[in-house]
Amino acid sequence: MVPELQKITVRMKNPEHVKNIVSALRKGGAARLQVISDFDMTLTRFGFNGKRCPTSHNIIDNCRVISEEGRKKLKDLLHHYYPIEIDPYRTMEDKLPLMIEWWTKAHNLLSQEKILKNDIAQIVKESDVKLRDGFNIFFDQLHENKVPLFIFSAGVGDVLEEIIHQAGVFHPNINVVSNYMDFDDNGILQGFKEPLIHIYNKNNTVLKNTEYFQQLCTRTNILLLGDSMGDLSMADGVADMENILRIGFLNDRVEERREKYIEAYDIVLEKDETLDVVNGILHFIL
Ligand code: C5P
Ligand code: MG
Repeated sequence: MVPELQKITVRMKNPEHVKNIVSALRKGGAARLQVISDFDMTLTRFGFNGKRCPTSHNIIDNCRVISEEGRKKLKDLLHHYYPIEIDPYRTMEDKLPLMIEWWTKAHNLLSQEKILKNDIAQIVKESDVKLRDGFNIFFDQLHENKVPLFIFSAGVGDVLEEIIHQAGVFHPNINVVSNYMDFDDNGILQGFKEPLIHIYNKNNTVLKNTEYFQQLCTRTNILLLGDSMGDLSMADGVADMENILRIGFLNDRVEERREKYIEAYDIVLEKDETLDVVNGILHFIL
């Protein structure tokens, strides 16, 4: 059906269930489908040549316009909070206030750095960010088939939009909900727009404008892509969902997190830096 599902990176708790869902998605075709995806470490690579790739936040944290002191503080935050984010032995309830603390502290630090709106494009150009291999097939395939792509990200909206623009794949079928920078009249960063989106509120509560999913009410088949447990609620706003296929990228602490991921996602992709499996499934459906 989908040869890419034979890749050694693929894990499935219930291959039969996956087969049934994929068949149902194919039956519904392009007209019934919508894709809901996380951005950082889902559409972008986790690593390249043995080095970690940056998230949309990290791109700003590490750029040349940030003061040395600011950079150090942001790095300290990352080293403190990221291990908590991926700790398989702590509960979501336990992590939630700490994650809000991380996002809040990071946004406050960034807001003191006099970042210019006009610098964002160059900052992205100079970064080591990489969309996953096969990204062009992914974005183009959805665009050509008029399948809406909803990108729901706790990263930085201005940065992720620029990444997609520079890759030449920001097609009109894309909608983004993320943390957007708030610039003053001189184009200097003064804060972030509300509401704050962190890894555990990617659900209805931050989608003030539920019009998006209402407009798409005939698209009752969902392909959901994520890399964190918090990404599983991204499709909660969809009305009258019929079929959902959840694909999860397991990038870090693979051994210890495998069981939970396999339980929660229909397909788990372990240390797979490509969109091959997603593209294979889309090719079969569309
Ligand atoms: O796009 P996505 O929702 O994946 O973005 C969230 C990711 O950004 C988190 O997984 C987290 O590791 C990372 N992050 C970061 N710096 C921050 C806050 C979050 O790199 N200050
Ligand atoms: Mg992510």
